[in-house]
Amino acid sequence: HPTLSVSRAALLPPPGGPGDAAGQALPVESRPFTSYGSALHITLPQAPRAGQLLTLLIDYEAGEGPGVCWLSPEQTAGKQKPYMYTQGQAVLNRSFFPCFDTPSAKFTYSATVKVPEGFTAVMSATSWEKQKDNTFVFKMSQPIPSYLIALVVGDIVSADVGPRSRVWAEPCLIEAAKKEYDGVIEEFLVVGEKLFGPYVWGRYDILFMPPSFPFGGMENPCLTFVTPCLLAGDRSLVDVIIHEISHSWFGNLVTNASWGEFWLNEGFTMYAQRRISTEVYGLPYTCLEAATGRALLRQHMDATGEDHPLNKLRVVIEPGLWGVNPDDTYNETPYEKGYCFVSYLAHLVGNQSKFDAFLQAYVNRFKFQSITADDTLEFFLEYFPELKEKGVDSIPGFEFDRWLNTPGWPPYLPDLSPGQQLMRPADELAELWAADGLNMEAIEAVDITGWRTYQLVYFLDQVLQKSPLPEGNVKRLSKMYPKISKAQNAELRLRWCQIVLKNNLEAEYSKVKDFLHSQGKQKYTLPLYRAMWGGSEATRALAMETFSATAPQLHVNVQNYVKKILGLGGAE
Ligand code: BES
Ligand code: ZN
Repeated sequence: HPTLSVSRAALLPPPGGPGDAAGQALPVESRPFTSYGSALHITLPQAPRAGQLLTLLIDYEAGEGPGVCWLSPEQTAGKQKPYMYTQGQAVLNRSFFPCFDTPSAKFTYSATVKVPEGFTAVMSATSWEKQKDNTFVFKMSQPIPSYLIALVVGDIVSADVGPRSRVWAEPCLIEAAKKEYDGVIEEFLVVGEKLFGPYVWGRYDILFMPPSFPFGGMENPCLTFVTPCLLAGDRSLVDVIIHEISHSWFGNLVTNASWGEFWLNEGFTMYAQRRISTEVYGLPYTCLEAATGRALLRQHMDATGEDHPLNKLRVVIEPGLWGVNPDDTYNETPYEKGYCFVSYLAHLVGNQSKFDAFLQAYVNRFKFQSITADDTLEFFLEYFPELKEKGVDSIPGFEFDRWLNTPGWPPYLPDLSPGQQLMRPADELAELWAADGLNMEAIEAVDITGWRTYQLVYFLDQVLQKSPLPEGNVKRLSKMYPKISKAQNAELRLRWCQIVLKNNLEAEYSKVKDFLHSQGKQKYTLPLYRAMWGGSEATRALAMETFSATAPQLHVNVQNYVKKILGLGGAE
């Protein structure tokens, strides 16, 4: 059934010219397009001339579509008032408003939003103004693709955290939100500007979403949306913020023209994120974080098979009922294989500041445009004629064409050895815990109290990789490190739950359930359901029980992916 109903379309008279201000009504028709949307056809009275400006007025009603999420008070942190938010990427905004819902088209927008008393509206816009009657007026004055238009209405308040930044959250979270990021955002913006050129969006604000928000972060311009899981109390998950800030150049300024080349957004953003992180936190820490990213890519490829067609950087997306749904391209490949490809380009250049200068020139060349990987690579070869001369696009085994069109493990991996000083102790400790007879003396000699969160994450990924461990080891590990097994930090909880499941540690199954009840992020939810479904009868039952209790809180896309994992006939 339609999730967006158009009641009327009209052609408005040219501005300033004569004609009926209500416009000339036009025939409207909805035609099948794909499983994720239909096409709106509007018939013009006559064929337009090339370059002619037409103004269409479309009356429509939106409500039950996947792009607009309606939460009951129980689904919020404060549990007092309902909440609504939109999530456009990749192809959901077509159920929010009629549009050219492709990242190849960019436009400015404005919106007038009337909300009930006691609610605040915010949007991904350059400016906003509260008028009388609970009416908010927004204006985005830079051209953006449709997927970056976003709206939240809820009981939300804000607090300043920098000269051009504030945090937004429900009142009960605002203090924690302010504490988490007070005074740290500006430095990321300044470093980003130094590396990639001017920050063109004016403000950079952060909105903490309700727990069911399906992503770590979403780079809505001027106003990043983030999961409340980032409120770790110690800024340990700030890499997500740096990531979303990096989209201010890669994704929001230079945009993939098609979701088939999503890696152009995410691969370049991962590279930019790690460049900023290197400047702010140093190379060792950044390499450690990148190593956990590589572990995610490994897990993803193991789960799907390296040759899976989605494990190419360029995915073919065709319209029609059986084509790939662009939302299905949200996996580790565009992120981490994309990161490897950009790192490979940097490696070809062989000089960090030259490559930084290239990135800045690239942003400047393609800002406010939507481009393909061919545009990127052509520009790269033009920018470095000596590399073009050498034929770096066709070095056997590393052909650009192979990078783009062959599924599988990246042919080049950046050197993460500067992170060894942080990884080695974690590697060694994981080794000790995987042994048959535990050498408790050696284990107790390792003091993990001072370890950074990502060191613990890396350690847990190693333990997971070696799991199942010999009988009794995980139970012992759990007792020895309550800092891990009782962690509140979501990245640690995810890994601990994965370890619990892979080792059939029944005594701690309730932790998996609790974690899945506490939040609905897709990248946390799906791996745990996959692990439960691939496990024992008991973990399968746990999966079913947990899903029936939490399904109504999950984003509809996440719901469908879980259904698919559990064989409940969800997503295609
Ligand atoms: N733009 C993505 C989120 C997204 C991707 C939404 C595809 C819908 C479809 C965002 O920038 C992102 O990548 N978030 C990551 C952050 C991480 C890589 C630091 C996330 O949510 O995990
Ligand atoms: Zn991203």
